Amino acid sequence: MQDLIASSLKFQNNTLMVLDQYLLPHQQVWHECRDVKTMRELILSLKIRGAPLIGLGASLLIAYLAEQDTTKAVLAQAIDDLEATRPTAVNLMHCMAKLRVALQQQDYVAEVINTAVKLFNEDIALCEKMATHGAKLVNSGDNILTHCNTGALATAGIGTALGVIYKAQQRHGDIHVWVDETRPLLQGGRLTAFELERWQVPYTLICDNMAASLMAAGKVDKIFVGADRIAANGDFANKVGTYNLAVLAHFHNIPFYVVAPLTTLDVNTACSADIEIEQRNGAEVRGVSGSFGEALWAPTNANVYNPAFDVTPAKLITGWVLDTGVYDQQQVLAGELKR
Ligand code: MRU
Repeated sequence: MQDLIASSLKFQNNTLMVLDQYLLPHQQVWHECRDVKTMRELILSLKIRGAPLIGLGASLLIAYLAEQDTTKAVLAQAIDDLEATRPTAVNLMHCMAKLRVALQQQDYVAEVINTAVKLFNEDIALCEKMATHGAKLVNSGDNILTHCNTGALATAGIGTALGVIYKAQQRHGDIHVWVDETRPLLQGGRLTAFELERWQVPYTLICDNMAASLMAAGKVDKIFVGADRIAANGDFANKVGTYNLAVLAHFHNIPFYVVAPLTTLDVNTACSADIEIEQRNGAEVRGVSGSFGEALWAPTNANVYNPAFDVTPAKLITGWVLDTGVYDQQQVLAGELKR
């Protein structure tokens, strides 16, 4: 298989490597991945994360295994096992569905490899298109608030919501970003801050609970977030805390945009009530861990509620920025969100 290089995932010299996003930004450690068990652990521990990237990492592993003369039956089981890792982001299901089709073909090894390569390259192009559409919504001097990490680390390209911000900064040169730290796993504080610094985009890191007072003070012009799954009616799931922002934006009359490729749209999910929300380990809320070690501040057995995502209803969304263009409420109500 040809070499494929992204910020946090690479297939090079026949070796699949994953950048450990749990240890960023203070340690840059790459893990080699040769089997399903390792990839499952990388996904479950969020060392590889972000809706598009999980699907691509799993796909490249299947392609690697196909190249190692793995039987059809074993590949089919591997696809099932990887798909079962995280239930909310639909990109993983989308990629695994494509690979299942490839596996049915006569020359399945070549088909599986071609499909994985195509998914990877398509993601780069989708990011570019979303960024081009979304950047047109940004004005010179805008203060943009974002949540979680939706940049190059989460995709094969420049990202979804963060790709829009990057493109807008390239165009205007005077954009400023408010970065929600994104408890409990701190994807904003660890990863978005790291990426914006690398891209030299001015930003200010805030705790999630500071967004309301910033909005009240008129210091947020627009909000751009990513999505893990968009339902047919336009509702979407994204990192927990996104819904808080949508409600606040509505109250303060601030435009609220969701940015995602069409591969994040799940026409089989009618509305948010049908989206399965991943529940995670309470330890993530009782304390925090990473390259700096571990800290536990709550009582060891504190009862914890820890959904990884929440859902935002379509009625709170100003615009859906997809690779095919920007859609408003009326278009979504008219059923124009289609794959
Ligand atoms: O749990 P994570 O870190 O995988 O969650 C990521 C998000 O919620 C992102 O906003 C979403 O996947 C879009 S990434 C381009």
